Amino acid sequence: MARGLRRKLTTYGDEQFSLFLRKAFIKAMGFSDDALDRPIVGIANTYSDYNPCHGNVPQLIEATKRGVMLAGALPMVFPTISIHESFASPTSMYLRNLMAMETEEMIRAQPMDAVILIGGCDKTIPAQIMAAASSDVPAIVLPTGPMSTGSHRGERLGACTDCRRLWGQFRAGELDETEIGAINNRLVASVGTCTVMGTASTMACLSEAMGLCLPMAGSAPATSAERTRLAEETGRAAAELAANGGPTVRDLLTPAVMRNALATLQALGGSTNAVVHMAAIAGRLGTKLDLQELDAIGREIPVLVDLKPSGSAYMAEFHDAGGVPRLLGEIADALDTSAKTVTGSTIRQMIDGAMTTPSDAIIRRRDRPVKPTGAIAVLRGNLAPRGAVIKHSAASAALYRHEGRAVVFDTLAEMAERIDADDLDVTADDVLVLRNGGPRGAPGMPEAGYIPIPRKLAKQGVRDMVRISDARMSGTAFGTIVLHVTPEAADGGPLAIVRSGDRIRLDVEARTLDVLLDADEYARRMAALPERKPAPPRGYARLYDTHVQQADDGADFDFLWGTE
Ligand code: FES
Ligand code: MG
Repeated sequence: MARGLRRKLTTYGDEQFSLFLRKAFIKAMGFSDDALDRPIVGIANTYSDYNPCHGNVPQLIEATKRGVMLAGALPMVFPTISIHESFASPTSMYLRNLMAMETEEMIRAQPMDAVILIGGCDKTIPAQIMAAASSDVPAIVLPTGPMSTGSHRGERLGACTDCRRLWGQFRAGELDETEIGAINNRLVASVGTCTVMGTASTMACLSEAMGLCLPMAGSAPATSAERTRLAEETGRAAAELAANGGPTVRDLLTPAVMRNALATLQALGGSTNAVVHMAAIAGRLGTKLDLQELDAIGREIPVLVDLKPSGSAYMAEFHDAGGVPRLLGEIADALDTSAKTVTGSTIRQMIDGAMTTPSDAIIRRRDRPVKPTGAIAVLRGNLAPRGAVIKHSAASAALYRHEGRAVVFDTLAEMAERIDADDLDVTADDVLVLRNGGPRGAPGMPEAGYIPIPRKLAKQGVRDMVRISDARMSGTAFGTIVLHVTPEAADGGPLAIVRSGDRIRLDVEARTLDVLLDADEYARRMAALPERKPAPPRGYARLYDTHVQQADDGADFDFLWGTE
């Protein structure tokens, strides 16, 4: 197969002329024939001034380039979209598929024998893996790594579990304006991704567990020398991939490896968003993520990692304690350890190479878990026929089994308007319901599932309530919160028929979620649901609305299913 600059020649008459033209243009960048006559490693550059989670990307690019060149290949950096959680409107999730499409097409279009995917903020690594899984170019992931923690009045702060907790205190009147302003300066102490076990850390660690990045690359701090050295090593590994012509992401992500990832997700106390992303990645491989399997694994594999929001520590401690290799060692009996990684070694070898500490404070032994079960349970019932998820490791055990009166918000805007009203008819025993927050509804499945505690209840000291939505939630949040109710209300799901005052029953142990209506009333209301809203008239919004699938299919576009 053609290699380096000879790959994917566009046709300008004969092949030689096409290569002649290509060389003539690229030489304008100062490349010599010697440089050009080598395998090419593409490097996806996701730097953006809007993306502090990728603030170290320039340094990582420099180091990966060095690694590629030391191994005798030619690095070629190319830009792709960059998405940051706080700066992507309407939501970062709305743009994930656009990034996946763009990345896939740029990998397909440009000549490269392997590609390094540098990313970190929540949607980036998922989009990049989706892209690589759909292309036939060997790829290696390089996470940007977690940010440093800050501190305020002796208290350690980490984005963004502490953002929510402290904002909650401000809302309850426990912190004043000056105090919350000072905290704002210190919450995000450096570039890099959120430093708790949120979505970014979860997806970085799952990349490592799936063998898509180098050992320890899921957790090394963004600003550490180790991260930069890992970048150099990633460059070398990519040059190997380019020389060997594989393996590709598609080769690596076998059903056993996908199952390994789900076991790791449960043991990490990982983000619920990972369920949607893993479903999207599975879809790119032409398979459907088995939510029942995820649930069954969660009954076997307990949460072993004591990180916020399920536990108490931050990513730096997880890294120091041995990171993903050590964690995989603790759950090895549930894994296929013969699975191959991107460097050709096995998960068993990765486990054997783990640098561990004597203490099991952060990565617990199996017989001393942080929580007795896995992080995430899958619920079903007449409110969620195709499933819903709850991160019960970060929920109040007292609410695992709860029946209450529904208080319904039709849209995010309505919720924002009414939630703090003094005359809102709500008690601590009620169940807050938010609908039209799904993939199509909002659109873009915002992280609105973390419905705030109504101000009047927060002031009385209420810290948690059962909350249900078809939206997502930040992986950094805590609460008894049911998410991803599927199908969503805007796509004819039964969340649309709930009225304030209906009784709702959640039973996490039984894995059920139901609205207590008799069958006739349920059927009558379902039959009376309005038609779906028409698609927006133009542009990406139209493409998105027409093709986005439900959460159980990863909220990917229907036409991106499979590889060819
Ligand atoms: Fe980028 Fe949290 S905002 S990882
Ligand atoms: Mg997040």
